[in-house]
Amino acid sequence: MDGRADAVVLFGVTGDLAAKKLIPALYELTRRGRLDVPVVGVARTTWDHEQLVTAARKAVTEAVDVVDEAAFDALAGRLTMVSGEYGTPETYRRLASELGAAVRPLFYLAIPPTVFTDVVGGLAGSGLAARGRVIVEKPFGHDLASAHALAVTLRGAFDPARTFRIDHYLGKEAVEGIRAVRFGNRLLEPIWSREHIDNVQITLAEEFGTQGRAGFYDRSGAVRDVLQNHVLQVAALLAAEPGGRDEELHVLRRMRPLTPAGTVFGQYAGYRDEPGVAPGSATETFVAATLRIDTRRWAGVPFHLRAGKHLATTATEVVVTLRPASSGLPGAAPNLLRLRLGRGDGLGLTLNVKEPGGTLAARPLPLDVDFGTALGRRREAYERLIDDAMDGRPDRFASEEAIREEWRIVTPVLDGSVPVHPYERGGWGPTTVGTLPAGGWHPVGSAL
Ligand code: BG6
Repeated sequence: MDGRADAVVLFGVTGDLAAKKLIPALYELTRRGRLDVPVVGVARTTWDHEQLVTAARKAVTEAVDVVDEAAFDALAGRLTMVSGEYGTPETYRRLASELGAAVRPLFYLAIPPTVFTDVVGGLAGSGLAARGRVIVEKPFGHDLASAHALAVTLRGAFDPARTFRIDHYLGKEAVEGIRAVRFGNRLLEPIWSREHIDNVQITLAEEFGTQGRAGFYDRSGAVRDVLQNHVLQVAALLAAEPGGRDEELHVLRRMRPLTPAGTVFGQYAGYRDEPGVAPGSATETFVAATLRIDTRRWAGVPFHLRAGKHLATTATEVVVTLRPASSGLPGAAPNLLRLRLGRGDGLGLTLNVKEPGGTLAARPLPLDVDFGTALGRRREAYERLIDDAMDGRPDRFASEEAIREEWRIVTPVLDGSVPVHPYERGGWGPTTVGTLPAGGWHPVGSAL
């Protein structure tokens, strides 16, 4: 199917993701002249056009500093709404009539897993799926078996070449930029292996909690919510051989399954009192785990992964610790390379310099660059990814195979065998148990 999408359909337009990310992304695309096609919102909640425009206005106002009124009016003028049950053919008949002559609609499924089959079935049954592309959002299943079932459902309705699975981390400039940093620098390329790297730490920390999504989160937990997807994708980008997306899949295949013994779970204080959380819930809101990769490049190098809510700060950060220099200069510390991938993205490198004074001794000195300052504002992940899917470009989406591998890796820690330890909000997870690694975590979340 050639050509850019000539309509966008947002299933779940009344939901949290639409308000926080998708509507602001559609607004940005409009502002940049990348979106001039009808946008149809679909939801079970009954909204009219005015309610949709009001909600869109609120979403955009919250997302940007200054609203470009002309761009917003242009988007508002393209919005239409279809409210209806997802399991009813009538909903899809009305959607088809809204779509009119559109021949390449892009369907964005920002919907809970419980209605996924209904929506995909409705799109297939009405014939709409046959002409469209589809973007699906995680969760891609709840485990390996349900992920497989979901893949089969999708394949039954949409051409795999027109199916786009979003892992929004793959759309972040700084995450994609891992490859530029690794492969664009002679300083780093030859040392990127077990010979020179002692360990790798990846943190996805959030200062906030479930933000009103506790009902959804309680059925998922930190592993399914972010580790199985975002964190493992980052690990794959760090560990892959040069050569692109196939190499990332290849390295995912070489990652050993996590082990209960090498995994720590935590749950923040007060989580069980949140509306939507099951009484006595054992859902983990914190996970730390050590990942092993069976390739020549990485044999013996631990990749320590950590993610959680209500932690000390909000930061997605990679810290690569190099082996010590062979000179053994007094005062020298192992070089650290930091890749800050979230808000305030950037890069840091700790080098040893001479300690001032009469004797030759070293002092580690951090060098740091903030990408926002150095490179200016860059496009948000969702905006880039919707733009890609409208053009039918698959490169920045997660493949079905990669998702399968990610489930394989996390499956052993999802059977309830990992004890969940309570932790206070605002720290770094449970303090009653070590959270790996043996030498501790490097501090993250601020310039060095
Ligand atoms: C989402 C998770 O996929 O990623 C959220 O469902 C999490 O729980 C979010 O907060 C983190 O994304 P970002 O881009 O804010 O780091």
